[in-house]
Amino acid sequence: MGTVVRGSAFVVGEHKVKNDDLSRVCETSDQWIRERTGIEERYYVADGTTTSDLGTRAAKAALEDAGVDPKDIDYVVFATMTPDYQFPGCAVLLQAKLGLGNIPALDIRQQCTGFIYGLQVADALLRAGVAKKLLLVGAEVHSGYMPWKDHGIVFGTSEAKPTEEEYAFATKYRDRTVLFGDAGGAVVLEHVPGEQGLIGTKLHSDGNFAQKLYVPSGFAWRPYVTEAMVREGRHIPEMDGRQVFRMAVTKMPEVIHETLKEHGYTIDDVSLLIAHQANLRICEAVQKALALPDERVYNNIQRYANTTAATIPIAYHECRRAGRIKPGDLVCFVGLGAGFHWGAALMRA
Ligand code: ACO
Repeated sequence: MGTVVRGSAFVVGEHKVKNDDLSRVCETSDQWIRERTGIEERYYVADGTTTSDLGTRAAKAALEDAGVDPKDIDYVVFATMTPDYQFPGCAVLLQAKLGLGNIPALDIRQQCTGFIYGLQVADALLRAGVAKKLLLVGAEVHSGYMPWKDHGIVFGTSEAKPTEEEYAFATKYRDRTVLFGDAGGAVVLEHVPGEQGLIGTKLHSDGNFAQKLYVPSGFAWRPYVTEAMVREGRHIPEMDGRQVFRMAVTKMPEVIHETLKEHGYTIDDVSLLIAHQANLRICEAVQKALALPDERVYNNIQRYANTTAATIPIAYHECRRAGRIKPGDLVCFVGLGAGFHWGAALMRA
């Protein structure tokens, strides 16, 4: 028996934003962003589109892809770090939008490793017989973090210009704002007889690094949001980019080897590596550490930037559609993100 993907899909925000578009609101350049990150463009949502909207759109398309009736879904797991509201979470909003009935709707918040954590949770629920057909969704609207006032300037729909003060404020955060995009991905999972499906997952976390990548506002303060916090940019993630980079290039190869070993495989058995897409340079360093040739690695950060919990289902769906995953292939997923959380999953296609 194995947990298999019955269907998959993804959606992106309504506005495509190229690197040069960002230089209208802060001091940056296409050259800097490409050289340091590999990113060429990303998508941001239109005003009013939320994370649960992107998740719902992706889930609807994944259900169609699977040929599964929404009323047969009996569990939702939704991974996001950018929920519509402080509470409730996005899973229950998606449950209502898709009219799924009063099924359990669970939110998880493991950032860039959200989808891999979600796979482990889903697999456990399906194996235990708690769920029969489960929707696993990863979606993010990062543009709510962006330190500019008029998104129309970035979209090219507004002729306005930022004030000097607004431009300087946005420039202060340019090392992180350029990295993210808005998107949603979803898979329909089922536990079926046969050799196919999830072989195993290996997860880790280290809360000692929590403040290396976090949003420094919330219920640690009373009240949890103030005008001063917004003025001080505490609604925008704080990030020690170099520390994240170092951890990612060390821990991702480590956890891949650990997972492979636990299940009696080596890196030579891996047909395709789908790594979380935070920075192309991180992905290249991981590929090098594993000595994998290009044809056994998939990257798409150039087109979407980092979409956090949506990244892995997007890459997976693109690989499926492009014929990069063939029956019998051993697919390895890996990610590391805020927490820090990191982990890997192995799946037999
Ligand atoms: N445009 C132009 N210049 C910039 C930009 C930008 N967007 N960002 C930073 N710079 C400048 C800096 O001001 C600095 O200038 P200085 O030398 O005059 O002081 C210079 O470029 C170098 O800046 P660094 O921050 O030291 O650049 P670095 O090479 O470390 O790259 C980066 C920064 C791309 C963020 C890198 O550290 C990285 O990718 N880290 C990992 C990030 C990551 O993976 N985050 C995960 C988020 S996922 C999650 O869990 C939410």
